[in-house]
Amino acid sequence: MGARVAVVVMRVVDRSVHVSDSSADAPVLHSARRVGYVHFMSSDSLASPRKTHARTLFRGLGPAYDRAGALMSFGQDPRWRRKMVAAVDANSRTRVLDVAAGTGLVSAALRRAYDCDVVALDQSPEMLAMSRQRFRSDPRVEVVLGEAEHLPFATGEFDALTFTYLLRYVDDVPATLGELVRVVRPGGVIASLEFGVPSSPVLRAGWWGVTRAFLPVAGRLISRDWYAVGRFLGPNIAEFARVWPPERLAQQWHEAGIERVQIARMSFGAGVVMWGTKASERA
Ligand SMILES: C[S@@+](CC[C@H](N)C(=O)[O-])C[C@H]1O[C@@H](n2cnc3c(N)ncnc32)[C@H](O)[C@@H]1O
Repeated sequence: MGARVAVVVMRVVDRSVHVSDSSADAPVLHSARRVGYVHFMSSDSLASPRKTHARTLFRGLGPAYDRAGALMSFGQDPRWRRKMVAAVDANSRTRVLDVAAGTGLVSAALRRAYDCDVVALDQSPEMLAMSRQRFRSDPRVEVVLGEAEHLPFATGEFDALTFTYLLRYVDDVPATLGELVRVVRPGGVIASLEFGVPSSPVLRAGWWGVTRAFLPVAGRLISRDWYAVGRFLGPNIAEFARVWPPERLAQQWHEAGIERVQIARMSFGAGVVMWGTKASERA
């Protein structure tokens, strides 16, 4: 597919921001407290190979996503998500930004757990289409097309923020973390979930076998697009864990202005939940 221009233009009309997205099938309209913001999505022709790959990867996963994700983590990933959502500690007056929301699994869990307002943001129009469907009759979830690297929100606008399986797809982890922290109010909780690699050599060998052999086969049984995911995930997770082991990532969270960072290694380290609180003042 040739260069797909995905420029998002906002214009301010009567205190609402209307967003039109040239890449989506239908125009995307978001009401917003984002008056004055002009937000551009980077086009595929300008994006790095990593970003272009992320956009392509999630284009064709379709309605199988929710079940396939659970299958490919041996049923563990819903448990990891619940742990992350429990760390958020929101309430019915809280507004939470869910970044890399995808089909909306985390947003839905946040709604169930806290009855809070949720903004579900993702850069994939195809994944967001499933979120939009999921929340079509829930006015307290706003679905927004956007990129984690430059969020279309004001500083300190959210009470809490979640991001799930995001950082392996961005070029600049520290800069992206800084941008995520920016939009949270001081004292707000930031929580994330990412895949990890077990630290025990025996379990790591088993993990290697599962990710290199089982995932591609399981993916192939679902579809050609899932086969690509199955082949990609193992090496990608291992590389991310090598460069950003949880302790180093936690240090980076701290440098981004998050304090009391905690790490929960789940399923022997195959899932890593991390959370902390935005510091009141940067040192
Ligand atoms: C594996 S899915 C996770 C979806 C969901 N959070 C979940 O738990 O099932 C990763 C999501 O990250 C999104 N994504 C990747 N890079 C992104 C970025 N830079 N900004 C926003 N979303 C991004 C993808 O489009 C995809 O929907």
